Amino acid sequence: MDKFRLFPIEGSSSAHQIDWLYFGLTGMLIFFCFVVFVPVIFFCIRYRRGAKVNRANPPEGNNLLETGWTLFPLLIGLGFFIWGAAVYYHIERPPRNALQVQVVAKQWMWKLQHAEGKKEIDELHVPLGRDVELTMASQDVIHSFFVPAFRVKQDVVPGKYTTEWFHPTRVGEYHLFCAEYCGTNHSKMIGRIVVMRPADYARWLTTGTTDRSIVLEGQRLFHEKGCSGCHVGSSVVHAPPLEGLYGKQVPLASGDIVTADDEYIRDSIFLPGKQIAAGYDNLMPSFSGHISEGEIMQIIAYLKSIGNQSEEGK
Ligand code: CUA
Repeated sequence: MDKFRLFPIEGSSSAHQIDWLYFGLTGMLIFFCFVVFVPVIFFCIRYRRGAKVNRANPPEGNNLLETGWTLFPLLIGLGFFIWGAAVYYHIERPPRNALQVQVVAKQWMWKLQHAEGKKEIDELHVPLGRDVELTMASQDVIHSFFVPAFRVKQDVVPGKYTTEWFHPTRVGEYHLFCAEYCGTNHSKMIGRIVVMRPADYARWLTTGTTDRSIVLEGQRLFHEKGCSGCHVGSSVVHAPPLEGLYGKQVPLASGDIVTADDEYIRDSIFLPGKQIAAGYDNLMPSFSGHISEGEIMQIIAYLKSIGNQSEEGK
């Protein structure tokens, strides 16, 4: 049983940053409460009806005082803005070389897959001291991946990818919640994050049914779902080759130029007519309903592996 605590354990490298910002804001609120309410109470008592005080010649203004109480809160406000923006940038920008985990949310479970192929449901094992980046998609409605001990929470939205990252700093088990109401069993859409010592994690990765790596799985799907029928050089159908594509700038028939990232590839599979590559016809059928979000992530991992090696992900 956990002892009562006001705040969850600080289990990630960004937890203390967020907590200090929170404490700072709370401290500022308490300070301004005093600045306003202590004089209010003081004047209420001192100038109450019947009190014998000097009410003659009230001061008409004090420039120094008025400049002061305008500038001082302004500077404090700007200070918090800069502080908050710095923390925001830190938690929103995943570091390079993070471990990649794919997350698919659905009513009402979390399906996760490690780059090595290992799959989990409602559980995520991660090694201590490594950055972990989650790429998340939803198969139905909006969910939200919330780990209080890591102070991370990110909506998982159908039709797009969102990411979240953390750097666990202590071994242990932590709660995982869905933090967006997603239907009847929303409250049961919970799980745990298990932070292990790196050696234990390496051992854990090899236990159980060792799945194929996510890249190999993607390669298998690439052939099985028929992508390779058109997207290889020798094909009769005129379709864009996909080697070296990932991370590149793609000119579109519309004249726009887009980056071939996860989102672009996902859209190209589900909504092929949305962004036609310049020089190609709108021939590809939509695979919506024929490929799951999890499978798309595997295909993307495969395309990444045959993609532009000089670019690091997005
Ligand atoms: Cu999923 Cu709430």
